[in-house]
Amino acid sequence: MLLQNQIDLKSFNSFGIACQAKLFSSFKSLEELKEILNLDQIKGEKLLILGGGSNVLFTKDFNGIVLINNIKGITLISETEEDVILEAGAGENWHDFVSYGVERNWGGLENLSLIPGKVGAAPMQNIGAYGVEQKNCFVQLTALEIKTGQLINFSLEDCAFGYRESFFKQEGKNRFVILKVQYRLKKKPSIQTSYGAITQELEKMGIVHPTVQDVAKAVIHIRESKLPNPKVIGNAGSFFKNPVVPNSVFLNLSKKYPDLVSYPAENGNTKLAAGWLIEKAGWKGYRKENYGVHQNQALVLVNYGGANGSEIWELSHEILKDIKNKFGVELEREVNIF
Ligand code: EPU
Repeated sequence: MLLQNQIDLKSFNSFGIACQAKLFSSFKSLEELKEILNLDQIKGEKLLILGGGSNVLFTKDFNGIVLINNIKGITLISETEEDVILEAGAGENWHDFVSYGVERNWGGLENLSLIPGKVGAAPMQNIGAYGVEQKNCFVQLTALEIKTGQLINFSLEDCAFGYRESFFKQEGKNRFVILKVQYRLKKKPSIQTSYGAITQELEKMGIVHPTVQDVAKAVIHIRESKLPNPKVIGNAGSFFKNPVVPNSVFLNLSKKYPDLVSYPAENGNTKLAAGWLIEKAGWKGYRKENYGVHQNQALVLVNYGGANGSEIWELSHEILKDIKNKFGVELEREVNIF
């Protein structure tokens, strides 16, 4: 595809923010990507690779080139009695990829059903939900190093996955284009239903011995009831990360707020439910003109239509300040701001 000038990005970001990219193109293969990267017009331009645009907030026009990753395909790399390894193009829709395994009763990623976005973004921020992170099934990925044009394979260790973190958000930031990712799925899966909401949902469904498909159904149902569908109301999922604080901070807070929701974390820390803090501070369902805080999930900021990104950023700033004042806790944005 040729380079285009001044393209509206509204349909390329799940927040539905209208803004212009100075230059724009998309690629369906490594060859197409290399062709674009070799064009004289893009030398020295800022580069942004977008998958589904489901974790970005544009606060202004993008003064560079936006490239949409459309590399597709799901391939069976290996199969034993125990498991399979699947490889997906970074431009595959994440939920379609998860469903591919779920339909065949191959377990591991079912708790990550219905997460918006494309496969390439999954390792970037180590997506997670309902007690599972993509790193639990991750085998390796292949990426193009932009500067050298080399293809590099990254192992689980190389990716340095953490809670919504990876090498690609730190030292590797803006240096690589993820092309394909491999995951191992189990034929005799150990189903992960310990997360409270899933247990309750399966009980409601009357299921005692859940299959991979049952868990996927439960997750889809929970997500549909709690999280706004970006096709209907613009949003980027959780806008903030759940903050990780020292146990001493958690103990002090929980004396004051016995119903504070938290999860044990590593190294003497506790993870607090930011949604709980934001709701307790009175922001849940807050609306100003055409943007606000979702009424069923306080971690999600929403664009009801026509809001601009800087207004939503301002709102997130107000929330950050308020949570710091009320609880002494610093929230961090999960969404990438441009
Ligand atoms: N809570 C509230 N009020 C709210 C929202 C949540 O009190 O408005 C409480 C809930 O009652 C619950 C706890 O906070 O006890 C946790 O809520 P929930 O299960 O909805 O999950 P979360 O911690 O708010 C995280 C992820 C989500 C993921 C869910 C389910 C982050 C930043 N977010 O949210 O991921 O779907 O767990 O596992 O870790 C995303 O990253 O975009 C995302 C949606």
